[in-house]
Amino acid sequence: MKKIAVLTGAGISAESGIKTFRDSNGLWEEYRVEDVATYEAWVRNPALVNEFYNQRRKQLYDAEPNAAHYALAELEKKFEVQIITQNVDDLHERGGSSHVLHLHGELKKVRSTIDPQLVYTLDGWELKLGDKCEKGSQLRPHIVWFGEAVPLIEVAAEISAEADIYIVIGTSLNVYPAAGLLNYVRDEVPKYLVDPNASPMPWMRNLKIIREKAGTGVPALVNELLARE
Ligand code: OAD
Repeated sequence: MKKIAVLTGAGISAESGIKTFRDSNGLWEEYRVEDVATYEAWVRNPALVNEFYNQRRKQLYDAEPNAAHYALAELEKKFEVQIITQNVDDLHERGGSSHVLHLHGELKKVRSTIDPQLVYTLDGWELKLGDKCEKGSQLRPHIVWFGEAVPLIEVAAEISAEADIYIVIGTSLNVYPAAGLLNYVRDEVPKYLVDPNASPMPWMRNLKIIREKAGTGVPALVNELLARE
């Protein structure tokens, strides 16, 4: 079976009603990264940071996967598919994908502030200040904040290097190291980028840009790939 790796960003969940970060009306217009998405912010104002992620988590409970998430699960009929997502939602899993690597963490999980191995799935949407891990330290969102290491990046780089087909969906490719994963993909590998606002990337070999929303562009691409195999 050929291996397909799929790198996704906020755009794939936009049609599920989850805001992207850098589009107009995106989350980073409403909030400053330094106020809600860094470890320093958490130390300075844990209530604000916690509330930001509680709100995101609450919205996630009302969101459903869209046609793009479901279509990616269909690819598993004929390919070995590995999703690498920058998203912290669980819409790929709920859409039926079996192998999902969360580069930037997972919204429904929380972890200990003294032992990063202690990760828990939260019951419901609300983490409260005062909720503690079994070693007695405050729980924090299981999110990779700006300035923090991305523990799964090497695994993601390996998956990218081994792919026979590479698909990128709904990411502005602004945030490193995730954006650098494309550099690990072999030159001869067919690459697809589905994003209505994609910029040209003339240096990228064998890249086809599909300037459509994920909800229409991804199912069409998936049908094409399934028909070809
Ligand atoms: P961005 O908000 O930077 O980019 C979203 C991309 O989705 C843009 O390129 C849009 O054109 C595209 N888009 C919008 N609607 C779409 C649709 N319906 N279908 C397909 N594409 C659409 O989001 P990311 O690139 O995911 O990190 O951002 C990367 C990281 O920056 C996030 O994981 C997050 C953020 O700060 C952390 O919080 C650590």
